[in-house]
Amino acid sequence: MDASKVNVAIRRLLILIEIVLCMLLIVSCSAGQPDSKATATAQSLAKGTALYGQYCMSCHGGSTGGSLTDIPPPHNANGHTWHHPDQQLKDIILNGLDLSTDSQKMPAFKDKLSNSDVLNILEYIKTWWTPEQRQFQAAATKQITDYENGK
Ligand code: HEC
Repeated sequence: MDASKVNVAIRRLLILIEIVLCMLLIVSCSAGQPDSKATATAQSLAKGTALYGQYCMSCHGGSTGGSLTDIPPPHNANGHTWHHPDQQLKDIILNGLDLSTDSQKMPAFKDKLSNSDVLNILEYIKTWWTPEQRQFQAAATKQITDYENGK
């Protein structure tokens, strides 16, 4: 083997080593990420479940039952909660709602729940919706977010 062929062989070997190192790096980075994200989601969902049971369940009910015209409205797939973007739901939960035609009103929770508590509760409620309802509501939320960001 002459010198130039040895050079090419060494270069190929170096490139191969680089590729293997890159792959190891990608694998080790992505190995940590889904794990920590999954844990955060499981934790926030558990928190949302507990808070919903403590503060909301008695009036709004759980994952099944109820109908579109009920007051208080069910938050599951039978209700209309999924018609509203996150921003509006958050506002109603923190500040309450009193459409004066109804005898009952939605209490304000701003003294009891933080922003992240409300997001955790919403995350839990969303597990009751159909994929189509989730998609619709996510699109509505994005529209408001884009509007607020001046897009
Ligand atoms: C004392 C009963 C009561 C409790 C407790 C209560 N709500 Fe309500 N909620 C209502 C009533 C009644 C309405 C409808 C108000 C109206 O139409 O004027 C309502 C309306 C809502 C709405 C707007 C309608 C919809 O489905 O989009 C949301 C969102 C909501 N509540 C979320 C919550 C969450 C989350 C909790 C727990 C943190 C909670 N509520 C606790 C009685 C309650």
